[in-house]
Amino acid sequence: MFDPVDKLKEFVRHPSVSTDPKYRDGMQGAQEFVSGLLRSLGFAVEVVKTGLHPIILAQREGDPSWPHVIIYGHYDVQPPDPLDLWKTPPFEPTERGGRLWGRGAADNKGPLMTHIAAVGRLLERNPRLPVRITFLIEGEEETGSPSFLPFLEKYQHRLKADFVFLSDTGIPREDQIVVTCGLRGLVLCEVEVTGARTDLHSGLHGGVLRNPIQALAELCASLHTPDGRVNIAGYYDDVLEVAPWEREELRKLGTEEEAYREFLGIPAFYVPPGYTPFEAVRFLPTLEFNGVGGGYQGEGSKTVIPSKALVKISCRLVPDQKPGKIRPLLYKAIRERMPGDVTCRIIDQHEGTPYIVVPPDRSNTPASQPPRLARAFRAVDRAVIDVFGRPPLYLREGGSVPIIADIKRVLGLDSVLLGLFLPEDNLHAPNESFNLRVMQKGMAVSEKVLAALAGG
Ligand code: BES
Ligand code: MN
Repeated sequence: MFDPVDKLKEFVRHPSVSTDPKYRDGMQGAQEFVSGLLRSLGFAVEVVKTGLHPIILAQREGDPSWPHVIIYGHYDVQPPDPLDLWKTPPFEPTERGGRLWGRGAADNKGPLMTHIAAVGRLLERNPRLPVRITFLIEGEEETGSPSFLPFLEKYQHRLKADFVFLSDTGIPREDQIVVTCGLRGLVLCEVEVTGARTDLHSGLHGGVLRNPIQALAELCASLHTPDGRVNIAGYYDDVLEVAPWEREELRKLGTEEEAYREFLGIPAFYVPPGYTPFEAVRFLPTLEFNGVGGGYQGEGSKTVIPSKALVKISCRLVPDQKPGKIRPLLYKAIRERMPGDVTCRIIDQHEGTPYIVVPPDRSNTPASQPPRLARAFRAVDRAVIDVFGRPPLYLREGGSVPIIADIKRVLGLDSVLLGLFLPEDNLHAPNESFNLRVMQKGMAVSEKVLAALAGG
């Protein structure tokens, strides 16, 4: 068997940034690395071409009566910028303080390697293990997985499985595993406001036209109520009521608001009434401004009326909100509130549907769960107790993995999301790292789960 940490280092060394064409070689390198590793474990590997970055479909077939697990992961990572804030270069993985540092170490290369290594160990011990395994590893997750849905539709006959198993979500502390049973969805867009056809001298022309930055700022300011709710008619209509067991589970988490506030470095929380901060990130939708631009941003001053201003917006959605319903509501609000003396263009970006799965022993109607999914949840529960000494918590999560809802819709499969990354792992930020103790324990959990499914 290979050394999982060495292999993770090799994986992180490939700069696989999916959004930026200048990393094309890194994307290909990471793809070939994973494909080769899975081949070496005896998997039949197919590299499925897409418009952009291929999807790795690796299968270990077997008797059709055996359980079939799909393990999902992504080999792409976020851009490493800003580079000057990294203590060691993002694509030169280094081990320090029980962690592996590098871009993608936690999101998602470390957690993915955890499952690959678990499978490797298990098959080494029992080459005839009666379980079918399919790895589905994509390279476009960080760009909204544009190729994944068409892939699912085309390959669904090969993806008839019992459930999906993955680790692309978080845990609060090293000793407390969370099985994520809900994810937020997304609707993204960009709004571009144009005033005059060109930048203008603010003395020669100031006073006769509306500045596009003003129009845009007024629009942005209108999109929330003073108490922090999204100020768009109908926005909350489909928000699922929080089940009592979910609030209870969240209380068991035992996290301190004050510690969280300090972790964020903010003077005070800004949370809609009726929710704690920990509830708000899981149970409520948001509307965020991710970036804003326009006019002169250089040194010193410039007396100009800019021609354009723009803002990037992302809405996080919760079950049962639908991107197809929220997007028109958002666009309608923008268009209605934009004054007629400027021109406004809305540019569509990607979206994702929110997801929720109720673990079998929390559900009021246990019979509604397919038996093999219920078995998987129980296997995870037991494995986590064995390895971590306490059961996992079952919680929704604020982040998004949009393909999970697509898998549910197209393949009819639920996902068991074993959280593995910690708040201090710095996902999407400089100095990302993955805790190697969590990795070792995660491997043990994954191994036990797969062995339990196989009846071992
Ligand atoms: N692994 C993350 C999602 C995540 C982050 C889940 C933190 C739980 C906690 C994933 O790779 C990711 O970053 N997703 C993006 C969405 C994507 C469509 C760009 C996200 O959530 O912003
Ligand atoms: Mn991820």
